[in-house]
Amino acid sequence: MFDLAMEWLNLVLRWMHLIFGIAWIGSSFFFVWLDNSLRKSADQQAGVLGQAWLIHGGGFYFTEKYSVAPPQLPAELHWFKYEAYFTWISGFFLMGALYYVGADLYLIDDKVLALSRAEAIGFSLVSLLLGWIVYDLLCRSPLGKSDAALAIVGFALLVFAAWGYTQIFSARAAYLHVGALIGTIMAANVAMNIIPNQKIAVAQMIAGQAPDPSFGKMAKQRSLHNNYLTLPVLFAMISNHYPVTYGHPYGWVILAVVMVIGGLVRHFFNLKNQGRGTRYEFLVVAFLLTIGLVFFTHWDPRRVQLSEGVTFAQAQAVIAARCTACHAARPTFDGIAEAPKGVMLETPAQIRRFASLISQQAVRTETMPPGNATHITAEERQLLGAWIAAGAKTN
Ligand code: HEC
Repeated sequence: MFDLAMEWLNLVLRWMHLIFGIAWIGSSFFFVWLDNSLRKSADQQAGVLGQAWLIHGGGFYFTEKYSVAPPQLPAELHWFKYEAYFTWISGFFLMGALYYVGADLYLIDDKVLALSRAEAIGFSLVSLLLGWIVYDLLCRSPLGKSDAALAIVGFALLVFAAWGYTQIFSARAAYLHVGALIGTIMAANVAMNIIPNQKIAVAQMIAGQAPDPSFGKMAKQRSLHNNYLTLPVLFAMISNHYPVTYGHPYGWVILAVVMVIGGLVRHFFNLKNQGRGTRYEFLVVAFLLTIGLVFFTHWDPRRVQLSEGVTFAQAQAVIAARCTACHAARPTFDGIAEAPKGVMLETPAQIRRFASLISQQAVRTETMPPGNATHITAEERQLLGAWIAAGAKTN
């Protein structure tokens, strides 16, 4: 019953996270596009930065952006913040439901670092907070005056974080944490910088003063960072379902390259929308890097040792006969390129680690093998179930 409830909680949180995320990124994309698409017009009023005409859903829209603010505060002003907050909150709980509740299975990998549950969860939380603090200080430092310098140092720190996480967590959790770190920075940019700066501008207007443009500029810089971070953060999240990425011994290198690809693609669209040319060379480099990744993931220096002579020999024999055609570092099953969902069932440690999932997939339900591709029998399922029920001991 608990497993079932957790499964549903996981699914509902994921659903919410996706919906909030779409709303946030959708509005963020829209506003960046709008900013880039503003053009000056001869008849525009003083204080107006630019205008754009849009057509959508059968209607025409006319938008104007002010350089700083309109002469009077409008009676009704729409804010965009809850999308960001709820995306972060739902994501945090989803991460908790999966990686904290299931820390032994998903977060900790004894081969990487033998952490206790408390240590692993503590490290996860501290790292997200620390990541935001370091980034925020960096933006406020003299380095923050140069967008290019900040981008280079910020990228180097993100790659360092990606590498660092692979030295502490399971490969899959490491990827997820890079995504969570970027997502935390993005949401905190909204909560701690963009919205507060907007509130200052509004308060100054209410007090009858002209708003100080420096606050708007600070918010704009953070908004620009969020724009470039959107593609990498989405990749880090969805790649969790693709062991071909995080499962590689140099998964952090793949993530670093993907951040560059995401940045190039974003830059192409930003330049294009600003009317600064259709610079296809950015897309070509992004494409070539993607091809490079295919070759890079094909190259895999891993060697997995098969242990023999263990007392759970019977269960392992079933798994070897019925599962490892797919669930192996080098699958032999036609059409399976990588161990599905990162589940490898070759060594005793791996089999023990995944015991509850084996039970879920092959004993309590008959989800695995898919379509019973390897013809497992009912007796063999029972045998696996009996071994797990007796404590899934490997000696
Ligand atoms: C024909 C290939 C194949 C065989 C054989 C196979 N699996 Fe899988 N397995 C898959 C695929 C594909 C997935 C990913 C399913 C998905 O994405 O939902 C998977 C996923 C899993 C998962 C992860 C489920 C999750 O939600 O995280 C486990 C555990 C698993 N299999 C166990 C087994 C066991 C135990 C056996 C042998 C009794 C087995 N599999 C045999 C292809 C296979």
